[in-house]
Amino acid sequence: MEKYVIHGGKPLRGSVEISGAKNAAVAIIPAALMVHGVCRLENLPEISDTDTLLHILTYLGAKVNMINRTTVELDCTHVQMDILPERMWALTRKIRASYYLIGAMLGRFGKARTTMPGGCNFGLRPIDQHIKGLTALGAEMDVSGGFITASAGDGRLKGTTIYLDKVSVGATINIMIAAATAEGRTVIENVAREPHIVDLANFLNSMGADVRGAGTDVIKIRGVSQLHGGTYTLIPDQIEAGTYMAAVAAAGGAVRVSNVIPKHLECISSKLREMNVEVEEGDDYVLVRRDGPLHQVNLKTMPYPGFPTDMQPQMAAVLCCAPGDSIVTEGVWANGRFRYVGELKKMGAQIEVEDQSAFVHGVDHLTGAVVKACDLRAGAAVVIAGLAAGGVTEVEDITYIERGYQDLVGKFRALGADIQCVQIPEDRPANWNAG
Ligand code: EPZ
Repeated sequence: MEKYVIHGGKPLRGSVEISGAKNAAVAIIPAALMVHGVCRLENLPEISDTDTLLHILTYLGAKVNMINRTTVELDCTHVQMDILPERMWALTRKIRASYYLIGAMLGRFGKARTTMPGGCNFGLRPIDQHIKGLTALGAEMDVSGGFITASAGDGRLKGTTIYLDKVSVGATINIMIAAATAEGRTVIENVAREPHIVDLANFLNSMGADVRGAGTDVIKIRGVSQLHGGTYTLIPDQIEAGTYMAAVAAAGGAVRVSNVIPKHLECISSKLREMNVEVEEGDDYVLVRRDGPLHQVNLKTMPYPGFPTDMQPQMAAVLCCAPGDSIVTEGVWANGRFRYVGELKKMGAQIEVEDQSAFVHGVDHLTGAVVKACDLRAGAAVVIAGLAAGGVTEVEDITYIERGYQDLVGKFRALGADIQCVQIPEDRPANWNAG
């Protein structure tokens, strides 16, 4: 087992390069299952979720050729569904995005089978909108025994109009993938508009699909018989970029966050400016500076283009040291996703959670402690807190963090942070303090 050891209190300076978008990659890799021919994906993030999905495709018979750390050539021409190897299920249970295999398998083979997905555990994560959309396309869906099984009557889905009851990134993605090769026209109303939704639509279109309207609340798809090979470069990760911007806000300093699409960061930049953080936008970078006191703010997460829920824990960590009282309200996840609060309190933060809001009372400084990454973004939050805190912070359960952040330690070290990844000696209790 490994953990991060952070000696905090040092301002961040220099430049950080943002990697490909995790939530685009975990949709595009399953979608590549539908491509007959070689599909070259560039700017893939080098994270464990990408590895897991590529392994799953290998089990299905895909040829996976890593050209370099962030470029892969996939050939799914000869993928079969007849044998779904048992050992595949250990991987599909690990990650949330494995359920995109349903849309891809249905779109390719007219049938699908996979386990219920895994992913960050912040309470209930229903899939009723996925079921609703795929059923509307003509699939018979069965969710039982920990598995999701689906089949299209005569082997091909039929286009239709679907109105989502709830704005759902996952349901929008799953239905879009399946509808790409359905017979006829599909209209999906009340869809998610996140950058990774647009990225998936652009990927599908570059492989011969006909998807229009991604990024608005209505997506229209004309089904094609099959997708052909091609090359696609993923967008940079909006949330990784936001995480580094929040880290500068918390620890202070001046950092150029490069390889971003500033438009995708507008909500984050605007909120940071309210907090007395300077954010200057370039073509493909933002310059983030903070050397004065932080200002308290209130924020509420909403579907894109609102403030992203995946930045909620990180911003709460920053606000721990903003003088005054801030309110952080979760507007996307019903169960709040506030598991990180207990960890920040170990560092001296004054936060109380009530219903969907965290009430943060700013303190002069945080103090290093032994804390855990409760999920991916909660892990990012405690790293940010550790970078700002005085003393030593040890972050355990870092596998969550490594699912979604490429080379987090290397990137922060290049910005002057004193952070390292160390092995927890087996013969000592996991919470042994490295001193
Ligand atoms: C995706 O999760 C992301 N994960 C999440 O990011 C992100 O928090 C979320 O979108 C919202 O932006 C991936 O892309 C792999 P949803 P997803 O379906 O698709 C409810 C991260 O940190 N809902 O948009 O599971 C649901 O309960 C991760 O990178 C239904 O009610 O989220 C939630 O309240 C964490 N029925 C809301 O919709 C459904 O069928 C949004 O969920 C589906 C969702």
